[in-house]
Amino acid sequence: MYVRPVTADDAPGINALMNPIHALGLHADRGPWTVDDQQAFIQSIPRGGVLLAAVDGEEIVGLQDVRPAGDKQAEIHTFVKLGRHGEGIGTALFDAMQLRVEALGTQVLWATMRAHDAGAVEFYKRLGFEVVGIEASRVRARWRVIPRADPLDEPTLA
Ligand SMILES: CC(C)(COP(=O)(O)OP(=O)(O)OC[C@H]1O[C@@H](n2cnc3c(N)ncnc32)[C@H](O)[C@@H]1OP(=O)(O)O)[C@@H](O)C(=O)NCCC(=O)NCCS
Repeated sequence: MYVRPVTADDAPGINALMNPIHALGLHADRGPWTVDDQQAFIQSIPRGGVLLAAVDGEEIVGLQDVRPAGDKQAEIHTFVKLGRHGEGIGTALFDAMQLRVEALGTQVLWATMRAHDAGAVEFYKRLGFEVVGIEASRVRARWRVIPRADPLDEPTLA
């Protein structure tokens, strides 16, 4: 399994991943999405956003997007293929995403999930998100970039 940026050609593979998730009500939109819908979504990722796929063999088994939402802030969503939860796919996506959002200068990521989706809440907490509020059955969690020490700034030993 590896993680790579999504391309427009991935629309059918993403639909195969996402339409069962839509059907279960685990996404804000109930779907199902057509290939055209999915291509429109892929193309809607704005400058400063990132859309990553986790791929196992030829199959897309996970999807994560980050969209800018205010100054140096962004919103993240993660979806892993039904039946493949708990294998580290979501974590692998975030490991790859983290490097990209830091490079984009993002300082805060926001995740929103249904309050009864305890698995998603635990997932984001495990990644270092802190729950900052629950409103209208939605949990809001925040993740802050911890600046890495720049080796060039470290004092040199005389
Ligand atoms: C939430 C979701 C993305 C997690 O992806 P995943 O690949 O299953 O997560 P990982 O295997 O990387 O799990 C990492 C850690 O998160 C926590 N976690 C993940 N799922 C969990 C669950 N159902 N219950 C409790 N803890 C969970 C665990 O601490 C886990 O570490 P561990 O396996 O060492 O205990 C996935 O379950 C999913 O797609 N759910 C449906 C869609 C959704 O709710 N998305 C979130 C809204 S944006």
